[in-house]
Amino acid sequence: MCGVVGAILRDQPALEGILDGLRVLEYRGYDSAGVAAALPEGVAIRRRAGRIEALRAALEDAALEDAALEDGALSEARCGVGHTRWATHGPPNELNAHPHSDQSGRIALVHNGIVENHQELRRELEEQGVEFRSDTDTEVIVHLIARELERLEGESGEAALADGVREALKLVEGYYAIAVLRAGPEPELVAARQGPPLCICVNEVGAWLASDVLALLPHSREVVYLEDGDVARLAPSHYEVFRPDGERVERSPEEIEWRAEDAGMAGFSHHMQKEIHEQPAVLGRTVAARVGDGDADLGSGWSDSELAKLERVQVLGCGTALHAGLIAQFLIEGLAGLPTDSDYASEFRYRSPRLVPGTLALAISQSGETADTLAALRLAKELGCHTGAICNVPGSSLVREADSVLLTDAGPEIGVASTKAFTAQVAGAYLAAVRLGRARGEIDALGADTLLEALRGVRAGLEVVLGDETVALVKEVARSNQDAKGFLFLGRGVNYPVALEGALKLKEISYVHAEGYPAGEMKHGPIALIEPGMSVLVVNSEGGVAEKVRSNLEQVKARGGRVIVVGSDEESLALADERIPVPATSEWVSPILNVVPLQLFAYEIGLLKGCDIDKPRNLAKSVTVE
Ligand code: M6R
Repeated sequence: MCGVVGAILRDQPALEGILDGLRVLEYRGYDSAGVAAALPEGVAIRRRAGRIEALRAALEDAALEDAALEDGALSEARCGVGHTRWATHGPPNELNAHPHSDQSGRIALVHNGIVENHQELRRELEEQGVEFRSDTDTEVIVHLIARELERLEGESGEAALADGVREALKLVEGYYAIAVLRAGPEPELVAARQGPPLCICVNEVGAWLASDVLALLPHSREVVYLEDGDVARLAPSHYEVFRPDGERVERSPEEIEWRAEDAGMAGFSHHMQKEIHEQPAVLGRTVAARVGDGDADLGSGWSDSELAKLERVQVLGCGTALHAGLIAQFLIEGLAGLPTDSDYASEFRYRSPRLVPGTLALAISQSGETADTLAALRLAKELGCHTGAICNVPGSSLVREADSVLLTDAGPEIGVASTKAFTAQVAGAYLAAVRLGRARGEIDALGADTLLEALRGVRAGLEVVLGDETVALVKEVARSNQDAKGFLFLGRGVNYPVALEGALKLKEISYVHAEGYPAGEMKHGPIALIEPGMSVLVVNSEGGVAEKVRSNLEQVKARGGRVIVVGSDEESLALADERIPVPATSEWVSPILNVVPLQLFAYEIGLLKGCDIDKPRNLAKSVTVE
């Protein structure tokens, strides 16, 4: 999703730091990029379709968009904003790339979000003589700010940029994280948030803003998260935050535990590969921090008094996070005995959910900023639910809004394909199920210890699955299946969401068509696809449904499908054409082990097909708009 960066520095140029920030945000997905700098004469803007490298080359070119300004001045400017755009309104070309400027060329703006009433605002501004230069919804905001500033100046002689921004935003419907600068002898930088995240920090060099805390970590680990409705004025040595009515409010910095180097590649070829291999450590951390004596220790938001009142759980999430949510449904029903449903957050928010009193709405999200998941959680809150979150990003909107929060400790996940966040979410769901079971008296202390011991043991299993032998085996299986006509992933019970996840990983990383199905559903339709040339990955571990899966597997073989078994069920492994054995473990935790060969498989197929592993086409890491 779009990335926003800005800086106003004491006495050093801002542009290089802004470009570095944009580079950190590349992982979010984008199709064009741009920067604006505040110069005494006006704003200087450079934008390019494509990668940041194209923008960098443009910055080195001779001609500036405003020919009156010197290139040297641009790179010397102390105040600037930058943007990576993921196109929503208008194709990804130079004119639609941000920043956008007002007609006087003194104000420039970058935006992440959507202006829902942009057509109406555009008509109104055009009637007032504004000439638009892009197809974007964003451009209306910069013209509105210019108009409101002019009005305020007409009333009182002068107006601060922050006041013009506040007034303009009163007219905007939708979601935004914006950074706005005004050029002049004393440049001004303002940030505002309604929906998508925005944070700021101040260090000895100056003040910085970004839509993602990762871009601020090189500058400081003390970060201020803006709240919805906040408008912040940044100066080189401080910041001030105002509410929409102009009231000044305090927003204190929070200490971030992540380090800038956590977002590096640590010698691996891709972030996805690194993150797959981080899973034993992530699991170890997540579990070590949460395992108590005879119970899971999830912190104060998960007290007996709240949990004992619960009658149901409604799990919400999108994509991979929903797959973890489907596993959570099995775990919470199976271990804690609580009726549980799970739903796509994007569907939940548009049906008329009937939630009984005493429902825990449990949102699962890596980023904590997914628009649909946040909207679903807010709806559940409005409907009177206790809200919970399993989330990986401290300080994210979800973490700030949910009543009970379980942080997954996976560290920054940069690869667009979610891997370590998924296994951490499943571990989190398992811990939550144990806590719920204890609070409701469904699990006694001894039972909890046994369950937690099984989770603790998964780390060793992950080390085996990520050992050289299994990695080499997956490579071989990927090589022999790379030209398959199509892929079907099957699983059952707690491992059926693993099949869905395996298919999703393969689709997003290698652009190959893949379907994930509950194995028992195969005979109701997908079996028609089975013929020689079709590769079928069957996930099967020992447990209650292993025998059922075996018979589904036989049905595939009988129709000429190529069967690859992933799991610990020996009989299935023996029946397979190819096999990736996974260490035996309790059925409840087996998804954490079984998903790893599927992640590796997607990675290897993606490599064989020459795909851009960490930046798959059309995808954004965090989907902060609908
Ligand atoms: O940040 P979230 O976990 O809320 O994101 C949800 C999905 O967009 C995400 O899991 C997506 O499906 C991943 N690209 C899958 O690898």
